[in-house]
Amino acid sequence: MKALSSSGSATPDAAPLAAAAERPDAARGAVSAQHLARLRSRFGQDFLWGVATSAFQIEGAVAVDGRGPSIWDTFCRIPGAIVDGSNSDVSCDHYHRLEADLDLIASLGVGAYRFSISWPRVQALGRGAWNRAGMDFYRRLVDGLQQRGIAAHATLYHWDLPQALQDSGGWAARDTALRFCDYAQHVAREIDGIAAIATVNEPWVVATLGHESGIFAPGIRNRATAMRVSHHLLLGHGLALQAMRSSGYRGALGIVLNQSPVHPATDSDADRSRALLEDGLTIRWYMDPLFRGAYPHDVLDHLGSDAPPVEEGDLRTIAQPLDYLGINYYTRSLASASGEPPQHGPQVELTDMGWEVYPQGLTELLLRLKRDYALPPLYITENGAAFRDTIEGGQVHDAPRVRYLLAHIAAAADAIDRGVDLRGYFVWSLFDNFEWASGLSKRFGIVHVDYQNLQRTPKDSALMLRQFLRPCADPVAAPSGLRDTP
Ligand code: FCB
Repeated sequence: MKALSSSGSATPDAAPLAAAAERPDAARGAVSAQHLARLRSRFGQDFLWGVATSAFQIEGAVAVDGRGPSIWDTFCRIPGAIVDGSNSDVSCDHYHRLEADLDLIASLGVGAYRFSISWPRVQALGRGAWNRAGMDFYRRLVDGLQQRGIAAHATLYHWDLPQALQDSGGWAARDTALRFCDYAQHVAREIDGIAAIATVNEPWVVATLGHESGIFAPGIRNRATAMRVSHHLLLGHGLALQAMRSSGYRGALGIVLNQSPVHPATDSDADRSRALLEDGLTIRWYMDPLFRGAYPHDVLDHLGSDAPPVEEGDLRTIAQPLDYLGINYYTRSLASASGEPPQHGPQVELTDMGWEVYPQGLTELLLRLKRDYALPPLYITENGAAFRDTIEGGQVHDAPRVRYLLAHIAAAADAIDRGVDLRGYFVWSLFDNFEWASGLSKRFGIVHVDYQNLQRTPKDSALMLRQFLRPCADPVAAPSGLRDTP
């Protein structure tokens, strides 16, 4: 990964950008070229800009070419598990539309595409035979990116565990970490040209939402199980890293964590100590073993007998040096001892997920990580927002998303100005897609997807991104589907 060259650049006042976003024309997502150029100039030439997706959320084709079922296919069949009763059997049907989708990605002018590999597509049962058709799909994807000059950033585990492995214990079983290691090694050896590989996406979500609250697959509700799962995910990460390195993989290796600064809901001592605990459970529980080789004591004390069994040598395996750390940032979190959900005042903007728009939290988070840990280069591997978009006359004027993205990009620039070694930023998401337990009801894409006919329509946010990245792009040469910004 190349070094960033933006240090020392002057910091233009972010106010004009914010002001531009307030103007009436911004209601249609139009931000002046000058403002985009000023924001862009805060980043070095080598800064990597990308868009992100994950396999289960966009591929569809769940029973095609030898793919085995995943825990999410199973979970979607549980009545009430997915709010709109949808599933991802088709979603964006990306599996069958690869070439056109790659052209669409290229048309945005991005330097990288973050996608995930579906484990059950390349190894139906999570052990034993490899599925050649599945591997070929990802070879075509990576080759297609290379041909278009786009760096392939793959994630190995974005939540779609082969159901057969769940049937033999899932991530609660230590053996799943070993199976994951085999899978990682096979992919790194057999698919050429992947620039960066992240082992696991958001282990906190897998452990806590999948095994403690049970609102995500596999829908288990047991805290001790959740903590075992978190440990085995980290162990699988460390084992996979070792295996990929020793098998000669030459790209960058990392992991992706979801993080939000945790603020106490009030100044009370009780809320403050709750915030510290939540910070421990969400951030330090993952950062400390990865970067300090130990789980945090306060969290271990809190967990008591629910703490996971850790074997001799596990923490050394987990604390492998990383080439990069990916951070997914969406919002801050507010902690209250009563457990009551936060009451937001009317001045607080919320996304369609009910998440507070809080860009300054990104700067705060990055500075805090830099202060507390010896970090490798950082990437924002996901940032974006769901809003209730409407498509009219082939256009989607998603001004709130445009504002959200610009404010967070500015917050990232603020962190760089203050010394954070941030090398890239990926928008979540390229497409509207299957948003897990929210099904097809939440739209995160910068490209609208019509689930009736699967037509893709770039929203104003996609047009903004393209103009941000390629201000001089010749409109005549623009690939079909992209209009010019007004
Ligand atoms: C993250 C996930 C991603 C998407 C966004 C909205 O937690 O990694 O798949 O669902 O949230």
